Amino acid sequence: MDQLKPIQIQAAGHTGSQVPLSDPSNTIFVKPTSPNELQFYQRVAQDALTSERQDDKQYNYSELYTIMPEFYGTLSLGDSTGQVTKETTIPANSPTYIVLENFLKGVANPTVLDLKLGTVLADPTTQSASKIARLAQVAAATTSGTLGLRIAGMQVHHSVENDADSHEVFDKHFGRELVGLNGIIEGLNRAFPIVTKTNNGRGDDIAIDHALAVCNFIVGELRYIIQVLGECPLRMFSASILIIFEADPKVFFDALERSQNSHNNDGDNDDSDDDDEEDDEEDSKPLVVRLVDFAHSRFTPDQGPDTSVLLGINTALMAFQRLIDQYSKI
Ligand SMILES: Nc1ncnc2c1ncn2[C@@H]1O[C@H](COP(=O)(O)OP(=O)(O)O)[C@@H](O)[C@H]1O
Ligand SMILES: [Mg+2]
Repeated sequence: MDQLKPIQIQAAGHTGSQVPLSDPSNTIFVKPTSPNELQFYQRVAQDALTSERQDDKQYNYSELYTIMPEFYGTLSLGDSTGQVTKETTIPANSPTYIVLENFLKGVANPTVLDLKLGTVLADPTTQSASKIARLAQVAAATTSGTLGLRIAGMQVHHSVENDADSHEVFDKHFGRELVGLNGIIEGLNRAFPIVTKTNNGRGDDIAIDHALAVCNFIVGELRYIIQVLGECPLRMFSASILIIFEADPKVFFDALERSQNSHNNDGDNDDSDDDDEEDDEEDSKPLVVRLVDFAHSRFTPDQGPDTSVLLGINTALMAFQRLIDQYSKI
């Protein structure tokens, strides 16, 4: 655990002493957490384990777990080496970190998008008056207020110009300047830089195929997320859609094929687990769409779904559908 380092690619969120960490193999994502976020993960992960049991009358949030990172537990980094604990409550004055599935695992050239959800970004029942007022201003001045969606940040991998790794960083100010649905579409278009470059001798067709495959996958995932959240009674403030995809077209299609092959083989050799390890390396999908950041989310079993968040996901769905239209015509 002494090998935890600041995560290499981060689209938005805390930096400095609050920066998320990961292990060298990108298996775990570790971030400082609040009691509220920890309890949120614990409840959903617990519901997922007991989804079959209908003996209590509590609402079961197990479906929600399918659109979140996997929850592995908590970690205390109180001393210099770090210490794994099984504690389920946060001791006073000790920063506790939440340990989650890391979506960068196995993605060689990740492009990462963080899209902030909702028209209301602070919880009126739990957050300070000054925070509520400040975030109401941010919402009113940006696409958050009208469309329930704002590009919170993007790190876009460029592989065309040179072979060295380079990421173009779009910080929170980028997304705050964008106006309307067209602004969001133009903003998201920047995540696919090689599509619009022509005559660069690198095979533009594969770049367009790649962008179309990525956008089509995202649209499918967003539809599924809308379906799940449409039945989930909760309130989320400043949660995000996190999108991570392999940005190099060739690497992307190779990885996709491998993951599909290993998926197809799954049923055939249920009995043999000889090459599990190899599968583990190879069957990781080169793209993922999930909800993250539940610092200000809570369960509201009697209040129905979060319409302000659903509005934002529908906006994202429309934006990616428009990109598909655009890229289909190139
Ligand atoms: N499970 C994850 N795997 C990989 N990267 C992640 C994961 N969760 C979040 N991130 C990255 O960290 C950033 C901040 O995450 P978030 O949970 O929103 O933290 P914060 O509370 O600091 O806003 C995201 O924009 C994303 O780039
Ligand atoms: Mg965040």
